[in-house]
Amino acid sequence: MRIIPDRVKRFANDRFGMFIHWGLYSIPAENEWIRNHKRISNEEYQPYFDTFDPVNYDPRKWARLAKKAGMKYAVLTTKHHDGFCLFDSQYTDYKATNTPAGRDLVREYADAFRAEGIKVGFYYSLLDWHHPDYPAYNDMHHPMRGNEAYKDQLGQNFERYREYMHNQIRELLTNYGKIDVMWFDFSYGEMTGEKWGASEIVKMARELQPDIIIDNRLGGNVKAEEPEDFAGDYASPEQMIPVGGVKDVNGNPIPWETCITLNDHWCYVQRDKNFKSAKNVINMLMECVSNGGNLLLNVGPNAKGEIPEESVKILEEVGEWMHLNGEAVYGCGTVDMERPSWGRVTRNEDAIYLYVQDTCSEYIPIYDCPEKIKCAALLADGSEVKMQLPWNAESYELDGKKVIFVRTPMFADLNGNKNVIKLFIEK
Ligand code: GLC
Repeated sequence: MRIIPDRVKRFANDRFGMFIHWGLYSIPAENEWIRNHKRISNEEYQPYFDTFDPVNYDPRKWARLAKKAGMKYAVLTTKHHDGFCLFDSQYTDYKATNTPAGRDLVREYADAFRAEGIKVGFYYSLLDWHHPDYPAYNDMHHPMRGNEAYKDQLGQNFERYREYMHNQIRELLTNYGKIDVMWFDFSYGEMTGEKWGASEIVKMARELQPDIIIDNRLGGNVKAEEPEDFAGDYASPEQMIPVGGVKDVNGNPIPWETCITLNDHWCYVQRDKNFKSAKNVINMLMECVSNGGNLLLNVGPNAKGEIPEESVKILEEVGEWMHLNGEAVYGCGTVDMERPSWGRVTRNEDAIYLYVQDTCSEYIPIYDCPEKIKCAALLADGSEVKMQLPWNAESYELDGKKVIFVRTPMFADLNGNKNVIKLFIEK
């Protein structure tokens, strides 16, 4: 059985983080892959660089919102696939300091989030559609793929790009204080593992930031019996919550984090109003926790630097629930019992938490509870919850499985915030 290092356990205890997709693509506001989709050249993309001026960028607001929502860490796109750097890298001119923004936006982010007690993470794209040494003509994702004008660039010097990337990663991990998460994105085809110089990257990262958590997108197999040194600390599914969590080849659970958008896009898309509700978000979060994973929930600030008001509202509502029920989230994980029809169950050392999403009767049956229960209370206000049996309940056990019944107070406040019942465990 693999040993999960303490730093990874701490990360897993946090359970809920904020993903932030923000960059030049927030101006066309269609998709952060817009250059790929529309085969936009560097020159055609240049106006966004020339006009990038996020006058309302105040990362303290973002950080306060994340904190209010109950998020414990954040991950910002310091450089996405378009190659534009929000940070002041000495290795490129293609950075925020040279736009009308005129400053290092990553520094302000790191300072602001740290000041609110939120752990600081950096997303860094391994792909780079701006750098002249990144494969273009024969790459499957590059905006200039198959473009005859780029055919003579086949002799690009990938070594040089690799060095550029390593230098930038070193800058990110040296110039901004303690960095908690490094989120590399992504490997494909032959562009994986040692092609990126992944072992060296990870070695450098661990030297510079001994407690850092690294995702699994440098390549390698995080589920292997003996994962490569660059395979990462956790699995990173996307837009889905793996049923039963993520397991290694031997069937042992491994740490994971799923990233999910609040509407249907990562970056700001003005017309996309398909936002999830706060309730959806809470359901997703509890689905993650009950399967032993983290939720990295995305926001896409606009070109002016503001998180869309819809997102703000949702996160504030989620925050109200988290304020009352966060105990069922942080440091909690799976319970060894079948998933009940009425909701989700999480636990820590001391208690089991019943998140009641939907119930058909006043009594919630719990089969196969792995612990002896002392008593129960509503998590939101600590008021006692009766665990009485309906008088003839014993005639209706499930396949001989022991059943305990919890009587939901007033059918619980199912669509409000008082919908978690805490079962105190007998020790
Ligand atoms: C996908 C998207 C990319 C985004 C990432 C986040 O790979 O293509 O734009 O940054 O998901 O996980």
